[in-house]
Amino acid sequence: MQRRALGATGIDVPAVGMGTWRTFDVRGAAAEAECRRVLDAAFETGATLFDTSPMYGAAEGVLARTLGDRRDRALVADKVWTADDGEADEQIVRALALYGGCVDIYQVHNLVAADRRLRTLGRLRTEGAVRVVGATHYRHAEFPALVTLMKSRAVEMVQIPLNAADRVAEREVLPVAAEMGIGVLVMRPLGEGALARRAVSEAELAPLRPYGVTTWAQALLKWILSDPRVSCVIPATSKPARMAENAAAGEPPWLDEEMRRYVERLVG
Ligand SMILES: NC(=O)c1ccc[n+]([C@@H]2O[C@H](COP(=O)([O-])OP(=O)(O)OC[C@H]3O[C@@H](n4cnc5c(N)ncnc54)[C@H](OP(=O)(O)O)[C@@H]3O)[C@@H](O)[C@H]2O)c1
Repeated sequence: MQRRALGATGIDVPAVGMGTWRTFDVRGAAAEAECRRVLDAAFETGATLFDTSPMYGAAEGVLARTLGDRRDRALVADKVWTADDGEADEQIVRALALYGGCVDIYQVHNLVAADRRLRTLGRLRTEGAVRVVGATHYRHAEFPALVTLMKSRAVEMVQIPLNAADRVAEREVLPVAAEMGIGVLVMRPLGEGALARRAVSEAELAPLRPYGVTTWAQALLKWILSDPRVSCVIPATSKPARMAENAAAGEPPWLDEEMRRYVERLVG
């Protein structure tokens, strides 16, 4: 697994990590055991950055429990998500308790109460309970607000959607990230699964094989990672074999411009 700088934070992240929205929002021993198998596959392949949020139901807790004594070998990207100051403090206290007193990358989810939350997270970074402070948004209309925070150095990383069918961040966010040394995590790299479900034939994949691509999902992930301004993609999966498949896309060779255009044509 290639590791990349998370902007100018001094922290290296794996090129492929894992999201937990929906997939880790589970209850019961059997479902949690399956999540543990997905996590095992992530550790076997070096995809050891995990993104979660109090917005994802049980996922924060399931991630913490399935990590167990592997916590120190992982990077946890969590979020605070509420307009209520008291509730935000509760979310933070709970997250710090779940993750051994430190959240590696703490993000303001969907920019909710961003100014106040960034002040709190900045203080926690000074105290050593947070290593990197950032912000996320899934909507293109909020990219200008993210960019304002990036330009004022109020955040050290951002999390945004980007894939071969959704390229707005390429124009609006990545140039500023590169200029300011801001880390970039990419959400929805498989278009919430819809892009990965497209039928792409073996013959259509053949030109991508010299680039280490054996599946369509890997082509989609490599398309994103071939842009060096991206730090890490965080595809979510409920299946251990897919975790391994996704992680394998985190190795060079990267796609050249001609091959990126080819993947874009397959996306249609
Ligand atoms: N901050 C925000 O506003 C925000 C918003 C959305 C997401 N996120 C973060 O970003 C993460 C990723 O985004 P996402 O979960 O929305 O979408 P995604 O990662 O683009 O897609 C996930 C879906 O793709 C399927 N999948 C995964 N690997 C596959 C493979 N190799 N082949 C075929 N299908 C595959 C999964 O199904 P199976 O389980 O069946 O494999 C799952 O349904 C989230 O989990 C979350 O951590 C943040």
